[in-house]
Amino acid sequence: MAKGKIYITRNIPNDIIQPFEDAFEIKMWKESETPVPRDELLRQTQDADGLVCMLSDAIDEELLSQSPQLKVVANDAVGFDNIDLKAANDRNVVVTNTPDVLTDTTADLTFALLMATARRVVEARDYVLDDKWQNWAPFLLAGQDIHHKTIGIVGMGRIGEAVARRAKGFDMNILYHNRSRKEAAEQELGATYVSFDELLRNSDYVVALLPLNKDSEKLFNASAFKQMKSSAIFINVSRGKTVDETALYKALKDGDIHAAGLDVFETEPIDSTHPLLELENVVCLPHIGSASYETRWEMLKLCLDNIKAVLNGNDALTPVK
Ligand code: GLV
Ligand code: GLV
Repeated sequence: MAKGKIYITRNIPNDIIQPFEDAFEIKMWKESETPVPRDELLRQTQDADGLVCMLSDAIDEELLSQSPQLKVVANDAVGFDNIDLKAANDRNVVVTNTPDVLTDTTADLTFALLMATARRVVEARDYVLDDKWQNWAPFLLAGQDIHHKTIGIVGMGRIGEAVARRAKGFDMNILYHNRSRKEAAEQELGATYVSFDELLRNSDYVVALLPLNKDSEKLFNASAFKQMKSSAIFINVSRGKTVDETALYKALKDGDIHAAGLDVFETEPIDSTHPLLELENVVCLPHIGSASYETRWEMLKLCLDNIKAVLNGNDALTPVK
């Protein structure tokens, strides 16, 4: 019997692929940093049984309708807004993501970004590099405290809870908003459930950790920023499209909020001409939430384990429902 074909949309280390090579024919795009061109992706998936894709690959009606053999799409991310789930379901294509393996790593980055923004770490580094450090001064690069402040977590999934655990270690007061209450997190972490508006009004740090969907698109708009404290710091490690970036720019520029730490943007990648980067009170990162070496390795392995399970006629390990 012919081996099932798996296509991977980036070049990934051979050590990850090697255990799967006996059972499957594995092909991948030759570059690790540049995405596969759309026409090449469409060509490769025409006869593929399984696909490992990145969050920047659109897996849509067009692609799915031209890939008759495709049985499973493994997204190398926890978020899956790049995939047309309905189109996949209509064709019985299983979709999987990478929850759990990236939870703590993404929570670490969220906290790193929160701290870097509050304590002006990036500005301070530039200050030294630009030879501006001539004297010590009482309020030189003074930022805001983190300990004993209030963090408001919007989206209390696994990552939200892991961020709350870190916040507890910093003696923070923890508010959260989520579609459903998380009684266990309330017990374990002392987190308090509040409405979205209450969270905006009372948090020193508003942290977005919710998936992108119709309900969350541009949830952080002009009216949301208006409700926040003028000292509030907004942190986004979810998806850029949960934010109205024009409204965020205006809120930061007008002093409606104090600062923002952003790992994600409406359209990625951005470059140095992006308007938000004109502002000193913005810390930006290139979507690296889950980017530790160990976790990125585990995520790719989980993608291949999911594909193997489905192509062998078993249930996927982490299907998207
Ligand atoms: C990254 O953004 C992910 O969804 O895993
Ligand atoms: C995503 O899976 C999350 O749990 O936040």
